[in-house]
Amino acid sequence: MSEKPFLRALRGTVSKAPPVWLMRQAGRYLPEYRALRAKARDFLSFCLTPELAAEATLQPIRRFGFDAAILFADILIVPHALGQQVGFREGEGPVLGALGNLQPAEAQRRVAPVWETVRRVAPALPKEVALIGFAGAPWTVATYMVEGGSSRDFARVKQQAFAKPAEFAVLIDAIIEATVTYLSGQVEAGAEALQLFDSWAGVLPETEFRRWVIEPTRRIVEAVKTRYPGVPIIGFPRGAGLLYEAYALESGVDAVSLDPAVPLVWARDRLQTRMPVQGNLDPMLLVVGGEAMEQAVRRIREELGRGPLVFNLGHGILPETPPEHVAALVELVRR
Ligand code: CP3
Repeated sequence: MSEKPFLRALRGTVSKAPPVWLMRQAGRYLPEYRALRAKARDFLSFCLTPELAAEATLQPIRRFGFDAAILFADILIVPHALGQQVGFREGEGPVLGALGNLQPAEAQRRVAPVWETVRRVAPALPKEVALIGFAGAPWTVATYMVEGGSSRDFARVKQQAFAKPAEFAVLIDAIIEATVTYLSGQVEAGAEALQLFDSWAGVLPETEFRRWVIEPTRRIVEAVKTRYPGVPIIGFPRGAGLLYEAYALESGVDAVSLDPAVPLVWARDRLQTRMPVQGNLDPMLLVVGGEAMEQAVRRIREELGRGPLVFNLGHGILPETPPEHVAALVELVRR
C-alpha cells in the first residue's frame, strides 16, 4: 500500500505520472559531484570509499528529488574484484591490466566497501525513494576485461567468443559467480531493486547474443531470485534491437530498460504487454532541453504512459548536461 512509486511501477502498477530516475544521475554534470570527486585520489578509490560514494549517491536525490537513487560505483568493480588491474584515465576512460589468473577467492573482500556504501545510503534516503543496486552484465564486463578498456570494434573479445567459446565460457562463468555474490551483498545491505547494464549487448549476432547476453543474464537472475524473490531486476541490453523481445522473454528480468533507438509503439506492443519498461529519452535531448526535449517527453508518455513505465534516459547522462534541464525534465515528467 505504502510501497515506493518506483517499486510499484516495477510490479506493474500504472500511475498518472511515472516514477523517474536517470542513468548516471550522479556524475560530472553536477558541480557538487566534481567537488567531491576532487577529494579522491582516483576514480576507483572514489568508488571504494564508502563515505564519498554514499555522498555521491545522495547528491542527485537532494537536488532533484528522483524516485530512485542508484548506488554510486562502476561496472568495473567486478574485474577489480577478480584481481584484474583497473584504472581510469582522465578523458580516456578505463584502462585494464593484462588478463592473468583470476582470483575469485578475493572477490568478497574487494567489494566489501561497496556494500558498506549501500548500508550507509539506505537509511539516509527519503522514505519514498528506492535504492537501486547494479552490476555490469557478463558480456559487457568481459568486453572491458578482454579488450583492456573501451573498444571501437570489439575485435579481441569477439574473436575469443566466436573462435574459443569454451575458453571464453570460463571467463563468463567467473564473472557470473562474482556478480551473484556482489549483487547478493548489495541486497543484504539494503538495495531494493537491481539493474544489469549490458551496454555492448548490441554488437553481437543473434546466436552469440543468446549465448553471451541472454544466457548469462538468465543465470544471474535465477541465482539472485532464488535468494531474494521479491527484489525486481531491470535488464538493459543496450542496442539489442529486435532481440529486445527474446531478451525480455527469456532472461527472467522483471523489466527492460530501452535505449533511445527502440520504437515506442513497438515497445508498447511487444514488450510492455509483458513487463514494465524503462526509458528512453535520448541523453542529447536532455542536453538540448527546451521544446525538442518537451516534445520527446510528451511522446514517451503518450505511447508508454498507459502501461507500467519508469521514466529514464535511453543511456547515461552526458557530462555537458545543464543541471537546470534535469530539473525541468523531472517537473515535466511529474506534471
Ligand atoms: O548511474 C549512476 O549515477 C551510478 C554510477 C555509475 C557509474 N558508472 C559512475 C561513473 C554507473 C551505473 C555506471 C555504469 C557503467 N560504467 C557502465 C554502464 C552504463 C553505460 O554508460 O553504458 C559502463 C559501460 C561503465 C564503464 C565506465 N565507467 C566507463 C566507460 C567510464 C569512462 C567514461 C566516462 O564517462 O568517463 C567510466 C567512469 C565513470 N563511471 C564515471 C562515473 C560518474 C566518470 C568518471 C569520473 O567521474 O571521473
